[in-house]
Amino acid sequence: MRPLVATVDLSAIRHNYAVAKRCAPGRQAFAVVKANAYGHGAREVVSALHDEADGFAVACLEEAAEVRALHADARILLLEGCFEPSEYLIAAQLRLDVAVQGPEQAHALLETQLPSALNVWLKLDSGMHRLGFSASAIRDWHPRLKQAKQVAELNLMSHFACADVRGDSLNEDQVECFLGLLDLDFDQRSLANSAAVLTIPAAHMDWVRPGIMLYGATPFADISAVELGLRPALNLEAQLIAVRDVPVGESVGYGARWVAQRPSRIGTVSCGYADGYPRHAPSGTPVLLGGKRVPLAGRVSMDMLAVDLTDLPSASVGESVELWGAHLPVDEVAAHAGTIGYELLTKITARVPRRYRN
Ligand SMILES: Cc1ncc(COP(=O)(O)O)c(C=O)c1O
Repeated sequence: MRPLVATVDLSAIRHNYAVAKRCAPGRQAFAVVKANAYGHGAREVVSALHDEADGFAVACLEEAAEVRALHADARILLLEGCFEPSEYLIAAQLRLDVAVQGPEQAHALLETQLPSALNVWLKLDSGMHRLGFSASAIRDWHPRLKQAKQVAELNLMSHFACADVRGDSLNEDQVECFLGLLDLDFDQRSLANSAAVLTIPAAHMDWVRPGIMLYGATPFADISAVELGLRPALNLEAQLIAVRDVPVGESVGYGARWVAQRPSRIGTVSCGYADGYPRHAPSGTPVLLGGKRVPLAGRVSMDMLAVDLTDLPSASVGESVELWGAHLPVDEVAAHAGTIGYELLTKITARVPRRYRN
């Protein structure tokens, strides 16, 4: 069997959910489990949070159906709402909470006959300009939706553009825009993603929506997950499958981009970009071997990558290699690769077997 496995620590996810709840005392929390629970396995994560989570948030009906099959009672929020009118019927059958993010969705809802009313989360565009109604459009739609027979609870939600940048003036503007609508009669309110759960108490409202923090990664460039009291949930672990000496002047890997500047010892590791390891991670990106960081050497291949073991002479074939996880934060690898932990976690491919620990 190919020595590459992603081990998911479900107790870490429960711990991180509890951290979110402690940050926002008295508020409810939708555990965001879209994109296969950020690559961790939606089924296992939902089951692990079955008794803890107040609700779950997903990106589409297919994801919602998967959660509903595991949890008969949970509130499940469809973050982008229904993509076509016929989906409202299925949303009602699945007893979902739906975002309504634009006039097309609102009209379609009002034109649909439903067997039961839905909890609707009217989405405010408070400044991100991705989805949602302007504040004045919210005022126009509020009375129409409030009295609509298709609507059970009428709720307000919005999303931050820069909550991961502490002190960004847009955060304050977005909170202000949201608060400016609270004279309207909404049943529930929700604004905070992980970054806001952790650092913007004024945004906690009734429901928070933590995603990345549940998986033990940080939304911030300048605060680590450990500093936030989070536990990494996923360990991506491969093996050293070959070791060789490379003389000065010889190159390593595709494109011959890495050239030995000293007599070098090069290790080959059983993980590549077809597993989700970022191909654009440059030489120098750390991987962990025997508790020590060693640098990537040359281009990442489809199924393998090379590391410079010259400063770790004890390393030998068969040793386990952590690409990221408990001892090497995914955020650190992501920073080297010019991306964010979110992307690395969601891009671990299907061929990497997931193993679960409770
Ligand atoms: C609408 C919405 N709410 C909450 C989240 C969770 O965000 P985070 O993973 O930063 O906590 C997301 C994630 O993209 C989202 O799109």
